[in-house]
Amino acid sequence: MARQLSGREALRLLPTLRADPLTAISELIRTHGDVVRVPLPRGNQLVLTSRPELVAHVLVSNQDNYRKARTYRPLTEVLGNGLLTNEGESWAHQRRLVQPMFARRRIDAFAPAMVDAASTAMDRWAALGSGSVVDVADEMSALTLDVVGRALFSADLSGEASQMAPALETVLESFVKVVRHPLFLLVPDYHRWPTPARLRARGAEQHLRGVVDGLISSRRAESAGREDTDLLDALLAARDDDGNPLDEQQIRDELMTFLLAGHETTANALAWTLLLLSRHPAARDRLVAEVDDVLSGRPATAADMNKLEWTSAVLSESMRLYPPAWMIEREARDADDLDGIRVPPGSIVATPPYLVHRNPDHWPNPEGFDPHRFLPGAADRHRLAYLPFGGGRRQCIGGGFAMLEAVLLLATITQRFELDLVPGHQPQALTAVTLRPANGIPMTVRPR
Ligand code: HEM
Repeated sequence: MARQLSGREALRLLPTLRADPLTAISELIRTHGDVVRVPLPRGNQLVLTSRPELVAHVLVSNQDNYRKARTYRPLTEVLGNGLLTNEGESWAHQRRLVQPMFARRRIDAFAPAMVDAASTAMDRWAALGSGSVVDVADEMSALTLDVVGRALFSADLSGEASQMAPALETVLESFVKVVRHPLFLLVPDYHRWPTPARLRARGAEQHLRGVVDGLISSRRAESAGREDTDLLDALLAARDDDGNPLDEQQIRDELMTFLLAGHETTANALAWTLLLLSRHPAARDRLVAEVDDVLSGRPATAADMNKLEWTSAVLSESMRLYPPAWMIEREARDADDLDGIRVPPGSIVATPPYLVHRNPDHWPNPEGFDPHRFLPGAADRHRLAYLPFGGGRRQCIGGGFAMLEAVLLLATITQRFELDLVPGHQPQALTAVTLRPANGIPMTVRPR
């Protein structure tokens, strides 16, 4: 079923679309079908779809007709020409250079650092004493920042985390404020206006750039002949076909991108997973049994990845229900057609994983938590019915890294602790850049 909203219907919808987009888009799809066109102010158009076949058309088979939507533009202020925000030939060139850094063999080499970071955090929980309460949203954020710091720079950012995490948050918050502001669609460079949110973000960006610049220059000052062990080494050593290295600005932009894209996403995936496990004791019991059986008390390694099937399935199912990248948006270059819905040039086409993952035509009992869907041998599904890491050539470069990290971290946590949501607390999903818990996830930690 496809539907086009009238101008009046759209006008009524706009305030909810800004204030509570998740509810607004869920409602749109529920009432109008799985592809809907919404006229926006100033001749802008939003086309929203949750149908995997149409998502595949936009992100894969007709991807040449789509660029990243202008809603990503404010991120360019902080990420410059990094992979997430770059476009065209420059993006393709950069992606070719960076891709080998995320090869399986290289990612697996980060496994000890991931497990080490998790063990350090678990030692801290142990020192708190049984029955203590931690906010797993904050805890997972600090932990994944630690992991990304080790993988990118071999640096211990845990000391900096107290300042870096809030700085990253300020940047992301300002992005959301700008994109949801009524003027965003009306004024082309509204995202550059010196609004209070923008000024706060600028200060935070400067802080983050200072940290990144400091790490680059101290690495350059180290004696030559250092082994190529982390992503910063790899970026410094990268050469294009003509033997040219990356310029300084590009290295900075890529590092900022990895820091921003690789940290909160994985943190949220883990935080939602811990919440779901405390609500589904049978799934948790099976997780504990698998982790104990596979690891027999020793630290997890990359080689365990294939054996930790239930652990992976739990994480995949958690990212189905709470996809950290809940929204993916493109902008049409030329006119297109989505099942009879006209897509004029310049339209924003939204393919939100949050809705695709709940499409009842593709997911029986879509709201239910059932990791069996992701075990080997589970029923086939459309290849774009599940897209936590996106699709097509712009899909996440860090997907393999993120899955390895999430599985090893969850296994390490499970080995040592059982976590339960503090009774009475109702975590709410907040649609910032990522889908995150609005009011934290306080949980009681008990050593096993
Ligand atoms: C659970 C964790 C993660 C999730 C759910 C996730 C999700 C995504 C999604 C959906 C996209 C595509 C966006 C679009 O098409 O508009 C993306 C792109 C990207 N992600 Fe991730 N990501 C995760 C972890 C990571 C990590 C760990 C890194 C790096 C260390 C990373 C780096 C990137 C980069 C550089 C891009 C842009 C790729 C390009 O356009 O060439 N992500 N991510």
